[in-house]
Amino acid sequence: MLAPGGRTPVKNLFGKLADGTEIHSWSLENGGTRLKVLSYGGIVQSLEIPDRHGRHANVSLGFDTIEDYVAGSPYFGALIGRYGNRIGDGRFTLDGEACQVGVNDGVNSLHGGAEGFDSRVWDVEPFTAGSDVGLYLYRTSADGEMGYPGTLKVKVTYTLTEHGDWRIDYEATTDKVTVVNLTSHVYWNLAGESGGTIHDHELRIDASHFTPVDSGLIPTGELAEVAGTPFDFRRTKTVGEDIRVAHQQLLYAKGFDHNWVLDKGVTAEPVAVATLRDPSSGRAMTVSTTEPGMQFYSGNFLDATLVGTGGTVYRQGDGLCLETQHFPDSPNKPSFPSTVLRPGQVYRTTTVHSFEH
Ligand code: GLA
Repeated sequence: MLAPGGRTPVKNLFGKLADGTEIHSWSLENGGTRLKVLSYGGIVQSLEIPDRHGRHANVSLGFDTIEDYVAGSPYFGALIGRYGNRIGDGRFTLDGEACQVGVNDGVNSLHGGAEGFDSRVWDVEPFTAGSDVGLYLYRTSADGEMGYPGTLKVKVTYTLTEHGDWRIDYEATTDKVTVVNLTSHVYWNLAGESGGTIHDHELRIDASHFTPVDSGLIPTGELAEVAGTPFDFRRTKTVGEDIRVAHQQLLYAKGFDHNWVLDKGVTAEPVAVATLRDPSSGRAMTVSTTEPGMQFYSGNFLDATLVGTGGTVYRQGDGLCLETQHFPDSPNKPSFPSTVLRPGQVYRTTTVHSFEH
């Protein structure tokens, strides 16, 4: 039985790629949350939640047309693979074999290379299960795609629960030893996607350490204490409070764009690690995950060149990402939790976004 507010996912034509491939949008709703997902990139095109007065707003940055996504999206709402965040020089060794993956961010590889999972077409199947509604997204990434070894079979499940939580379950298997680090790249603005800066949003991250980076945003390998730095979000503070502090790490990234080392580490079940709140609307979100890390990116590279879903221009800091993940450049950092996946193993991670209003 579907809970009141639950609705079987509805499929619509969203647009076509240049080669004629049809891209569909899937609309689902449950527990007050409305989600629109594209078969292109598994993109969350819109995610609506109510404010303290019950008024819905789309809290996820995005575009209105498939052409805009194809023309160049900074990963708005997308599924990221095979490797979320950066791999230094796009190079690493696996069981003694040298691997070179797609370089697309200066000399480094970012978010799986130039044609990552965010720009691929996924097979989407709707489901209802008990009081949940959701989508299964499937994709097989061929051996050698973007330089990554192994045929990677991926299944991502987007679930909306009767409480309006959005849950993501990632699963993957390989036929050769490889590395995997899947995540979701939603840009949140809880005031609404055209609501202006997120610097007044309040954020808490349960992490005593973060991974400092070099000027190319590759971790140095150190786990640095957040205590006494702008990176200390253990006590709730606004995103803007310390963003203008002249700290070398903030200068490198033009703001926050770092991996927080979650105190709970890798867990079998999702554990709450961060809460984001917009005091003006009363909307709040808690992120729970099985992952050991979270990239908090404060939308530093939004530069007023893109026009979003609501017809307004996105400027720096108009959205923020909380990308649950394994640490960047783990394939080159033996001291970081491993991202290696071997034949016979199943990669499984879960992240849940719970909304309050
Ligand atoms: C991630 C990266 C950022 C940036 C954005 C997309 O968050 O860490 O450096 O590339 O994606 O613009």
